[in-house]
Amino acid sequence: MELLKQIKLNASKLNKRIVLPEGTEPRTLKAASIILKEKIARVILLGNEEEVASKAKELGADVSAAEVINPKTDMRRDKYADMMVEIRKKKGLTKEEALKLLNDPLYFGPMMIKAGDADGELAGAINATGDVLRPAFQFVKTLPGVSVVSGAFLMFVDKKFGHDGVLVFSDCAVMPDPDAQQLAEIAITSAATAKSIVGLEPRVAMLSFSTKGSAKHPLVDKVVEAVRIAKEKAPELMLDGELQLDAAIIKEVGELKAPESPVAGKANVLVFPGLEAGNIGYKLVQRLAGAEAIGPVLQGMAAPINDLSRGCSVEDIVNMVAVTANQAQ
Ligand code: ACO
Repeated sequence: MELLKQIKLNASKLNKRIVLPEGTEPRTLKAASIILKEKIARVILLGNEEEVASKAKELGADVSAAEVINPKTDMRRDKYADMMVEIRKKKGLTKEEALKLLNDPLYFGPMMIKAGDADGELAGAINATGDVLRPAFQFVKTLPGVSVVSGAFLMFVDKKFGHDGVLVFSDCAVMPDPDAQQLAEIAITSAATAKSIVGLEPRVAMLSFSTKGSAKHPLVDKVVEAVRIAKEKAPELMLDGELQLDAAIIKEVGELKAPESPVAGKANVLVFPGLEAGNIGYKLVQRLAGAEAIGPVLQGMAAPINDLSRGCSVEDIVNMVAVTANQAQ
């Protein structure tokens, strides 16, 4: 896969510091040894130093070039706690509470990024999505002008679809039930992901079970409204909807159902109307069509923090560290 090679090559050039909070987790340690050997990124492992070293030795994973930091004893705790209190002062966070939160690597990692001591984070091999994302939402927050973080997958399918077989699917990981405004934002940030990570010229399809008014339902109205908002916010973007999946990606169907659409039949960014469709949709393509799925790539966050599926492989972690490093540029 050429694109993946390119993403890794670019990551090597960037030489970013990626923090892995699950520092004693076996797949993470094996991935860290590969990342260091292939010089994809600099690695920061969080955890008790002795435990990290003994687990790595047991696995035969050479992580000697990684920085290992114990969130419970690190001397930056006090500074980070002050920053946390400042960020959450409206929520009444006390220093004592902040110091307690910092014992958790899933809070310590994002604070390293916030303080400029790391460039990105990847976690989730043994933690649920919500537990990885909540500290990031609370302390790293969203990019200026963005209110909602969402999760995209880079899907590698048959070359006749998307951009030479590459499509971006979104949101497949975060927002259970986006409203029209949020859906419009998801479309715009997904286009940015397609451009910056995949390097393709985005053609965004806003998916529904209706094409250009073929069905009437409040769920269709939501997508129509999202299209209107997205076009208003980003008039330069090639974006259209509402489109059914076949009208979005198959030329003949697009020509038949939406002949005026600049996107129909050739979309390379698919925006699902809600998380149920997005999460089930990407897994269907991955499992039944045997597509490679890389992600979720979180978009809209002020710094790159990515979440893994708990079923992830060592290779998935290596790939996602490369993606995270690319996002940090
Ligand atoms: N973007 C930006 N900020 C957000 C978002 C978002 N999408 N969602 C919540 N927040 C912020 C809130 O504004 C709030 O900030 P505040 O504390 O400063 O006011 C903070 O995060 C916590 O908000 P809650 O509403 O309490 O959010 P909660 O933690 O309950 O839920 C979560 C957030 C965990 C992401 C939830 O939306 C969720 O569970 N989503 C589904 C995740 C999932 O299970 N995905 C499928 C698996 S992933 C896969 O298969 C690859």
